[in-house]
Amino acid sequence: MILRRLFWVPLAVIIACSSGSSNVGSDLERRVDELVAQMTLDEKVAQMSGDSGVFLPEGDTLWNVPGVERLGVPPFKMADGPRGLGPIQGATTFPVGMARGASWEPGIENRVGAAMGRELRAAGGNILLAPTINMLRHPSWGRSQETYGEDVHLLSRMAVAFVQGVQENALANPKHYAANSIEDTRFEVDVTIDERTLREIYLKQFRAAVLEGQAASVMSAYNSVNGQFCGENEHLIRDILKGDWGFDGFVLSDWIFGTQSTLGSALNGLDIEMPIARFYGEPLLMAVQDGDVPEPLIDDAVRRMVRKKLQYGLDQPSGLDESVIGSDEHLAIAREAAVEGSVLLKNASNALPLDAGAGQRIAVVGLLADTPNTGDDGSSDTMPAFVVTPLQGIEEAVGEAVVVDHIAKDVLDSDDLVAIGAADAVVVVTGLTAEDEGEGLIGAGDRLDLDLSPERETLIRDAAAANPRTIVVLEGGGAITMGDWLPEVEALLMVWYPGQMGGYAIADLLFGVANPSGKLPITFPTGLDQLPPFDNVLLDVTYDYFHGYRYVDRNGATPEFPFGFGLSYTTFSIDNLQASQSTAVAGDVVRFNVDVTNTGSAAGAEVVQLYATYPGSAVERSERDLKGFVKVMLEPGESQTVEISLPVNDLAYYDVAESAWALEALEHAIHVGTSSRDLPLSTTLSVAAQAPVSVY
Ligand code: BGC
Repeated sequence: MILRRLFWVPLAVIIACSSGSSNVGSDLERRVDELVAQMTLDEKVAQMSGDSGVFLPEGDTLWNVPGVERLGVPPFKMADGPRGLGPIQGATTFPVGMARGASWEPGIENRVGAAMGRELRAAGGNILLAPTINMLRHPSWGRSQETYGEDVHLLSRMAVAFVQGVQENALANPKHYAANSIEDTRFEVDVTIDERTLREIYLKQFRAAVLEGQAASVMSAYNSVNGQFCGENEHLIRDILKGDWGFDGFVLSDWIFGTQSTLGSALNGLDIEMPIARFYGEPLLMAVQDGDVPEPLIDDAVRRMVRKKLQYGLDQPSGLDESVIGSDEHLAIAREAAVEGSVLLKNASNALPLDAGAGQRIAVVGLLADTPNTGDDGSSDTMPAFVVTPLQGIEEAVGEAVVVDHIAKDVLDSDDLVAIGAADAVVVVTGLTAEDEGEGLIGAGDRLDLDLSPERETLIRDAAAANPRTIVVLEGGGAITMGDWLPEVEALLMVWYPGQMGGYAIADLLFGVANPSGKLPITFPTGLDQLPPFDNVLLDVTYDYFHGYRYVDRNGATPEFPFGFGLSYTTFSIDNLQASQSTAVAGDVVRFNVDVTNTGSAAGAEVVQLYATYPGSAVERSERDLKGFVKVMLEPGESQTVEISLPVNDLAYYDVAESAWALEALEHAIHVGTSSRDLPLSTTLSVAAQAPVSVY
């Protein structure tokens, strides 16, 4: 009763403001209102929780949240997740999010999202539990592989592209809102985070997914932020998501432990408890009947769901059939994404590309060379019809012309070393697997040691000692520290978990059918000492402003491979940086043009990156921030002028005292180049102060 008195008036106001009042009068809103008005309280509350059970019953593949059949309101049917449809046998397995982040190519990410949305809808589903857009604060996070990287701008661009792709046919569900970057304590950990860091580093990509991508739904995280569980976090859900951002979609909880109360969750804006009613269902019904939860708040939650069902035509047949699931078209997208996201980290003496000419002998070494390795065993796991291993890709690429010796071992004996020594080149396929990293509880959890296992390091060193032309193909979901083996090998190709078509993509890259063009979406440090602390035992942790490249930049450290880095089989020059203006005010979009030339002899793509600096800022800023990028494909000798747009408001910081974004009067240095540590071109941009400004 006390709660009701406290909450009734403000909630009524919030509901009026946040639930589509801006659209009042539109046909959609009228239809939504009409439908909700015809629903009984029981029907409304039933739509606020899943009813499939804690584990999906035998034969069910999709999590169900009831609709109202008599009114033609369809149920929600949900499936994970980030690398393809988990529960659908034969659905396409794409490279993991981290690999796709490494493509720096929102265009292909949009096609990946669209393909997943099509497959889901064809399988009878309508909400894809993806993308994972949590910040990779530290590469020890067990679910590193699911997200797109460590930078908020890159995450935002990829998230928007993916969400828009999915929502051509189904609803997307960016997750986990928010600050979910530790696995082993995820159900209990409380993340203390200051308001500026929260808004600028941990929430901006969600804001982009919701405002620009128009994501229909958001999944709350398990952890707490500043003392309140995310599933009932008033500040995150009520104030920011549904308040400041005006989100008119719905929020669902993460599974089972993601909902922790009836009143707190309902009053603070959690619309759906998943996957079953523990705190919603009967307890929620009683709370409404007792007057502890106002019925208009229930109406608001249901309106949000019905709105999205109608807006995205979930009440209509999709026109898609099962032939799209694992279709050739989707497999081709998976292969292309794997090519685009692979990062060439080292290529001494142009060891790559390999010669597929007659008479060559290649040793393919390592257990992982012929092991399907598509990612962790957690909720993002999939069931592809087949997985092309690196060995299969290589064998099919070379046919009879090249002799391929496969040494399927991680511990080599003297005969193996003789065979390796006799080869023209050695490809060691190694890295991490689901045994090393993954989702907590159902997968391997966090990865505290960033090295490869001693056995795998020895494998690389032994192969390299036997043959100077040793190339390492490295698999894994995040940063791996190189120990002392890196100088021993000639080439290193990071392929992450490259999806079911990964073997073909790897062969395309090794033999130069395709040219590597991925760039690191995360910093590869030399060791843990270059990173902020990672604690997955303590239940109270603090996240500050700096991690990833911002952290190593601030500390003047030299990482093994910097954020944004990646080599190619060709060379590029970039010059002639021109800005459309050198002074700007709030609301301007400044265009930066730069000429990019392919100065080598192979066709290839370069990612031009733009970073901003804040000399003299009154608040603590990053040394430099990624603010724009563009990937351009060029034939040998070809030049193109590329344009990167910078909305000036994107230079604003979050002014906590004013609760608003503010532009400072600063002469920003703008740097352009091909990695965060290779920025040869610079200009300045003077910006006039302005507050508040609106920021995506
Ligand atoms: C994960 C979510 C996932 C859900 C359903 C949870 O444990 O954190 O990402 O979507 O399970 O499988």
